[in-house]
Amino acid sequence: MENQTRDMNSGDLNARERMRRTGIDEPMIVRLVHAFYGKVRTDELLGPVFNRKVEDWDEHLRTLVAFWSSIAMGTDGYNGRPLPAHMGLGIEAEHFTRWLGLFRDTAADVCPPEAAAFFIGRAETIARSFQMGLDFHRSAMAKGALPAG
Ligand code: HEM
Repeated sequence: MENQTRDMNSGDLNARERMRRTGIDEPMIVRLVHAFYGKVRTDELLGPVFNRKVEDWDEHLRTLVAFWSSIAMGTDGYNGRPLPAHMGLGIEAEHFTRWLGLFRDTAADVCPPEAAAFFIGRAETIARSFQMGLDFHRSAMAKGALPAG
């Protein structure tokens, strides 16, 4: 199991092979995204951050389904820039801990184990890179190297 999970997370397996192994398809991604953000919206720590920013939740859910479809199935429906979308939201380490906790629980509830392992692995990697990107942006701003906001 360990070796296979690592294989699935690396970029060398093509999307079709990954979908065959994990059973990932669009309906599963829709179930995962809708269940996850259903929890996020009512979460006492994350809810206020999202509800302050997201005006059209249907559009936000469509964007996140396209995002995860591009990662898991190699589709080209998502062409946003996720890191800048998280700047200026006042996100701290505790928000990432809660976000990942809710995401792990939801993926385990909604997806078969191999698909859940794939989504959780990618979410952890992306969350780590977001945290580094936000920390870098914050310290560069503190040094006056970047414009505020
Ligand atoms: C601390 C945890 C997080 C918080 C509080 C958070 C909050 C948000 C908010 C409020 C938006 C909407 C921004 C807007 O409409 O301008 C957003 C967009 C988005 N988030 Fe997060 N997020 C978090 C972590 C993550 C992680 C770990 C991922 C990926 C694994 C992610 C993926 C995205 C994507 C793809 C978008 C859409 C960006 C676009 O418009 O193209 N977020 N997030």
